[in-house]
Amino acid sequence: MPVQPAGATVPAMTAPAASASAAVKRYGDVRALDGVTVAFDRGAFTAIMGPSGSGKSTLMHCVAGLDALTAGEVAIGGTPLSGLSDRELTLLRRERVGFVFQAFNLLPALDARENILLPLRLGGRDPDAEWLEQVIDTVGLRDRLSHRPSELSGGQQQRVAVARALASRPEIVFADEPTGNLDSRSSAELLAFLRRTVDALGQTLVMVTHDPVAAAYADRVLFLADGRIVAELQEPTADAVLDRLKGIEA
Ligand SMILES: Nc1ncnc2c1ncn2[C@@H]1O[C@H](COP(=O)(O)OP(=O)(O)OP(=O)(O)O)[C@@H](O)[C@H]1O
Ligand SMILES: [Mg+2]
Repeated sequence: MPVQPAGATVPAMTAPAASASAAVKRYGDVRALDGVTVAFDRGAFTAIMGPSGSGKSTLMHCVAGLDALTAGEVAIGGTPLSGLSDRELTLLRRERVGFVFQAFNLLPALDARENILLPLRLGGRDPDAEWLEQVIDTVGLRDRLSHRPSELSGGQQQRVAVARALASRPEIVFADEPTGNLDSRSSAELLAFLRRTVDALGQTLVMVTHDPVAAAYADRVLFLADGRIVAELQEPTADAVLDRLKGIEA
């Protein structure tokens, strides 16, 4: 079932920041997504958890328009992605979506600052200088800006990827394990910053994590198993998340 009738346009501010309806993604015999219906409200921070292979990355890639569904529909800000041409989809992703990939996807020939600014440059836009400085300081990269990815640690590369996703202040940011390679102190700093972008700026954020402490920064946690949403927690605490995970992974 489509999120809305073909051709209908939900006014941008009333539609959720992103949504999926009966989303199915098959890779050969694997049903990576097996009928997922979910809405990501504006200004909310959602964490996605679940065992390895449960479909977390697939869900984010499909909702962000990086990969196409086998069946069902996804929408960004009320715009169904299935109706868009490749060109329109590219523009929508560039202008309205930020993505932190599980595998960073930094360009090796560019230094950290150039990597951070790349999506803006591709879109022919100038960065908001004040915002950019704030992002760079928060992720702690000021003294690494002229280093290439090969000259940075895994955690530093991860922070470049986070800064790149935030640089254009997109409507919605998807982050696939953004704290996976960080020590607990860097992780807490980054999560506190992400939380502030939600509270102070109304940023919409969707984050995959395996860490109950990281998930507790979110407003809501979705639990995936075998390509389906099997549980949900509002106002999570790390203990509550851990309890729920035990039930799912057992
Ligand atoms: N490009 C692909 N080709 C074939 N199978 C794929 C592809 N991408 C994902 N899959 C399969 O789809 C399922 C879901 O994968 P996905 O990457 O979404 O899991 P995940 O929950 O993000 O796992 P992890 O926590 O390990 O990152 C897995 O069985 C995976 O092997
Ligand atoms: Mg993944």
